[in-house]
Amino acid sequence: MRKLFYILCLILFLGPLSCASVSHQSMPEEGSAGLALVKQKCAVCHGLPHPKRHTAHEWDHLLVLMTERMKEKQIPYTSDEMQQIQSYLHRNAR
Ligand code: HEC
Repeated sequence: MRKLFYILCLILFLGPLSCASVSHQSMPEEGSAGLALVKQKCAVCHGLPHPKRHTAHEWDHLLVLMTERMKEKQIPYTSDEMQQIQSYLHRNAR
């Protein structure tokens, strides 16, 4: 019984930590247009992704994937917005 309790605690504790949401962490360039756009566009389906989660190279792949996800949900996303988000993530990448 005790063991089960520990496992349950682990799941409850690690679950939210392992997902993309890291909104409690402070974001780089607070107050910038780039971050404002990331907050507006990238926290619709999941938590705000922290730029340090990935290298610039990884971000390029992920952004292609996320563009697909947005198309599926018909969320407006212009190429100008995409470039701004990409450059923000690159500047602050791991
Ligand atoms: C339409 C919904 C949607 C929007 C908007 C969206 N995402 Fe995602 N995101 C997903 C889904 C769904 C996943 C889970 C992986 C998958 O199925 O592609 C995900 C996963 C992620 C991950 C997790 C990958 C990892 O393990 O680190 C990151 C980071 C991420 N998204 C970044 C972004 C960024 C940056 C933007 C803004 C440009 C964005 N997302 C906008 C739906 C979305």
